[in-house]
Amino acid sequence: MKYNHIKPFPEEFLWGGSTSAYQVEGAWNVDGKGPSVIDMMNHPEGTAGFTVASDHYNRYKEDIQLFAELGLKAYRFSIAWTRIFPEGTGEINKTGLEFYNNIIEELNNYGIEPIVTMYHFDLPYTLEENGGWDNRATVDAFVEYGRTLFEYFGKKVRYWLTINEQNTMILHPGAIGVPKGGKLPTKKELYQQNHHMLIAQGRVMQLCHEMCPNGKIGPAINLTTMYQATCKPEDAIAAHNWETIRGWSFLDLAVHGRYNALFWNYLVERQIEPIIEEGDLAAIKSGAPDFIAINYYSTATIAESKGDASDVSPRAGDQQIMLGEEGVYRAAENSHVGKTRYGWVIDPVGLRLTLRKAFERYNLPILITENGIGAPDELTDEATVEDDYRIDYIRDHLKQVQLALTDGVQVIGYCPWAVIDVVSTHQGYGKRYGFIYVNRGEDDLLDLRRIKKKSFHWYKQVIETNGRMS
Ligand code: BG6
Repeated sequence: MKYNHIKPFPEEFLWGGSTSAYQVEGAWNVDGKGPSVIDMMNHPEGTAGFTVASDHYNRYKEDIQLFAELGLKAYRFSIAWTRIFPEGTGEINKTGLEFYNNIIEELNNYGIEPIVTMYHFDLPYTLEENGGWDNRATVDAFVEYGRTLFEYFGKKVRYWLTINEQNTMILHPGAIGVPKGGKLPTKKELYQQNHHMLIAQGRVMQLCHEMCPNGKIGPAINLTTMYQATCKPEDAIAAHNWETIRGWSFLDLAVHGRYNALFWNYLVERQIEPIIEEGDLAAIKSGAPDFIAINYYSTATIAESKGDASDVSPRAGDQQIMLGEEGVYRAAENSHVGKTRYGWVIDPVGLRLTLRKAFERYNLPILITENGIGAPDELTDEATVEDDYRIDYIRDHLKQVQLALTDGVQVIGYCPWAVIDVVSTHQGYGKRYGFIYVNRGEDDLLDLRRIKKKSFHWYKQVIETNGRMS
């Protein structure tokens, strides 16, 4: 659709930036924090950085000052469940509450809206040892944790995100590390865990509405569009299969409280459907999110399944690289899009399309909580990072956000991943995303000093002008 007039970004648009606790904070075992699954899992060699990460725990004041200088209107971060409840449930660790209270106060002082993710991959290890999300007791623990967060921070935080990328945890469980012993859950187990997470999410959203009258809460899903490889009808079916199973099925449950029919039949046919107890669907439905948060990086292109093992590519995949699934779809190439050096498709137009589809389907405001380009940024002799590729990436995506706004999609904010360098889930500090460089190597901590990248100055100017892009 061509327009004569492109709508401006709304005045109240939440220009933001994102991080997550375990990827930025460090201080993994201090001040009463308990271990999380992240602390206890095996990670790829050379990505040992989670213990110190970007040392935000000790440098949050300096960091937030930089966020303010950048002009952020919103900062999306996560609370480490294990700082509040070291064992996932039971006794509260007051020092943990104090830490996040300080962060929220600091943000409020600068007029930066806190957007809080309650759980970003880092399940308390004690809960994991007791069965993790297989165990319904984890649902109660999450609700208790939610109640604590709403009680302490409900008056100071308006935007809440429940669970980050539940679909990544279910579809690509190795993304957050592999349990010692090397055994990942079976699909049957994963879909039961998924069901329990949905109940936990529904109950927590309902609780938020009860306890925080001014609060808004929603799920945060890694969402994208699947293109069909050709105009062959069977390719279209395969693309629809995977788009539904990978994305819509999670949001249909979160928003409408029902299992999508195609998704449910896929589960039943493979005998991997969860056990649903009385009251479960009502609990899921009771959530009624106020908005949807989406993490968008790439699109994927999909071809017809051949119905045998050759559907699955032998390459290594991750949360953005689709590998195919026997009898469901095959991964295909798209010659019309670029790729990052890690093989992630770069497709700004795909963001516009994904926003349109999500808004059409749910009619809820959409907050973009992740989008960005990972790169092995290099510090120059002049102590800067010339990350023009990041500027190009963000600019191209923001232009599509503006077109989506012009299409009528209600996008309320944009929080690129990440506002500051964090440990990448797969490539440690070899792959960076921030506007602010953290001076450390993979193993060598150097001085951890903060350095503004070229993209920092560019994004600052975008925010200052409410979206004017050079
Ligand atoms: C998202 C996660 O899937 O992708 C983040 O929510 C993650 O935690 C981001 O860091 C980028 O992925 P990676 O593997 O490059 O760190």
